[in-house]
Amino acid sequence: LSLHDALPIYTQEDIKEIVEYARLRHVTVIPEIEIPGHSTAALAAYPQLSCDTTKTYEVSTCWGVKDDVYCPSEFTFKFLEDVFTEMLPLFPSRYWHIGGDECPKTRWKSCPKCQSKIKELKLKDEHELQSYVIRRVEKFLNKNGKKLIGWDEILEGGIAPNAALMSWRGVAGGITAAKSGHPVIMTPNTYVYLDHYQASMDISPLANGRICALEWTYGYNPIPKELTEQEAKHIKGVQANVWTEYIKTPEQVEYMAYPRANAVAEIGWSSPEHKNWEDYLDRLQYQF
Ligand code: ACM
Ligand code: ZN
Repeated sequence: LSLHDALPIYTQEDIKEIVEYARLRHVTVIPEIEIPGHSTAALAAYPQLSCDTTKTYEVSTCWGVKDDVYCPSEFTFKFLEDVFTEMLPLFPSRYWHIGGDECPKTRWKSCPKCQSKIKELKLKDEHELQSYVIRRVEKFLNKNGKKLIGWDEILEGGIAPNAALMSWRGVAGGITAAKSGHPVIMTPNTYVYLDHYQASMDISPLANGRICALEWTYGYNPIPKELTEQEAKHIKGVQANVWTEYIKTPEQVEYMAYPRANAVAEIGWSSPEHKNWEDYLDRLQYQF
C-alpha cells in the first residue's frame, strides 16, 4: 500500500454521508479533532503552528507519541477556530471530542512563545498551559452550542469547567472527574481497548501490547465502586476503542472488534446483578 492508500482522505461529502448513514440507525457520530498533541500532520502542512517555525515537519507514518505538538500561539488558536468553524456544520452532535491526550511538554519548555504565554497568564507550568488551551477551546465550542469531551489528561493543570472526560489510562481519572461533577465515559485500556490482543500472542495476528480477553471485557463494571450513588450518576457510559495502528483492513477491524464489542454492549446495558458469564457464552453462540 502507498501512504495515500493507507490513509483515507474524507471529503466533506463523505463525512456528510457517514454522519447521515449513522443517524438513520440512531447512532450519533462524534468527531475527535486532536489538540494539542498528535498534530504532526497539521505541523507538516503549516510549520507556523509549531514551537520551532524554522523546522519542517513530516506526517507520521508510524504510531507513537511525538514531541512536536501545536504551539499555543494566537496563530494556532486562529487556525483551530477556522478548522472548527468549517467542521461545525458537518458534525451536528452535541458533544465534540478534542483529544487532549499524550501531549509531551518538551517543546513548550524551550519555546520563547510558550514561556512568555505562561508568564503573561501567570500560569504555574506547562500543564497549566495545556489546561489553558483546553479551556479556551471549550469556550469557543460552548459558544457554538457544543460540549467538550477530552481524554483523562485534561485533568492535569485543572479540568475545563464544563468538560466531559473519557477515562482511558485506567479508572482513576474517571473517578476524580465524576467526584467533581463532570460527565464521564469509562474506556479503560485494560478492559475495553479492542486493538489489544484477544488471545495468546503465539497464535494471534500482530496486535497492540497486552491481552484484553473477552472474559475481562465482560467482567468489567463501568461504575467504579469508589463512587457514591449520587456520584455514579455522572458515569454516562462505557466506550471501546479500536485504534488501527496494527490493523490494515476493515476485515481485521471486525476480527478485533468481535466478539468483545458484543460484551461491551452487554456491560453497558445490563446491571452487574444480571450478568452471568456462562449464560453469556451460551447466548454468544447465536451471535457467531
Ligand atoms: C488514547 O488511547 N491515547 C486515548
Ligand atoms: Zn511554543
